[in-house]
Amino acid sequence: MENIIIREATVDDAEEMISYLNIVGGESDNLMHGAEGFKVPVEGVKRRIQASHDADNSVILIALAEGEIIARAELSGYPSSRLHHNATLSIAVRKDYWNKKIGTRLMTEIIERARELNLRNIELEVIADNMAAIALYHKMGFSDIGVYKKWWFANNTYSDAIIMQKCLYE
Ligand SMILES: CC(C)(COP(=O)(O)OP(=O)(O)OC[C@H]1O[C@@H](n2cnc3c(N)ncnc32)[C@H](O)[C@@H]1OP(=O)(O)O)[C@@H](O)C(=O)NCCC(=O)NCCS
Repeated sequence: MENIIIREATVDDAEEMISYLNIVGGESDNLMHGAEGFKVPVEGVKRRIQASHDADNSVILIALAEGEIIARAELSGYPSSRLHHNATLSIAVRKDYWNKKIGTRLMTEIIERARELNLRNIELEVIADNMAAIALYHKMGFSDIGVYKKWWFANNTYSDAIIMQKCLYE
């Protein structure tokens, strides 16, 4: 897709990031919050972005179209020295842009960043019926590790989650 810029988030993106998070929250049942459910104040989001920037095992990437955030991916590394080489991954693309390979572009770039940060493992959980995300993660080399039974609760229903991992240095 043309005119999509991918770059690391800065504290100046905090307000736009809150708008984006509230939009994507209402577009699927697969994120931690629903529509308008992202209630963290702008100063809190700025602190989170700065903390990610300062950590040597974390990164937040955003994709922008005409100045608006349309997708975001985050690697969140563990602070403990014994887990420091691992990070959890989250990603969401705005619905208008699904199936246009923006997820693929963001995943490709964030895995490259993970290698640059000398991470050894990326881990994630995905709801078992989220077929697009599962297809994307498998395409990017993630393996199924196991299942958390009845891990997710949305729309009055408990769902299983698949645990996945990508090893960067096998
Ligand atoms: C999951 C998500 C990030 C994918 O982003 P995207 O930009 O649409 O991803 P891409 O277009 O790069 O790739 C999507 C892949 O899923 C496949 N796909 C889409 N719908 C599918 C379905 N119902 N069943 C199987 N595969 C499907 C596409 O064919 C594509 O695979 P391909 O590249 O081999 O053709 C996006 O759908 C999203 O943000 N969903 C809501 C939030 C979410 O679920 N985040 C993940 C939480 S774990």
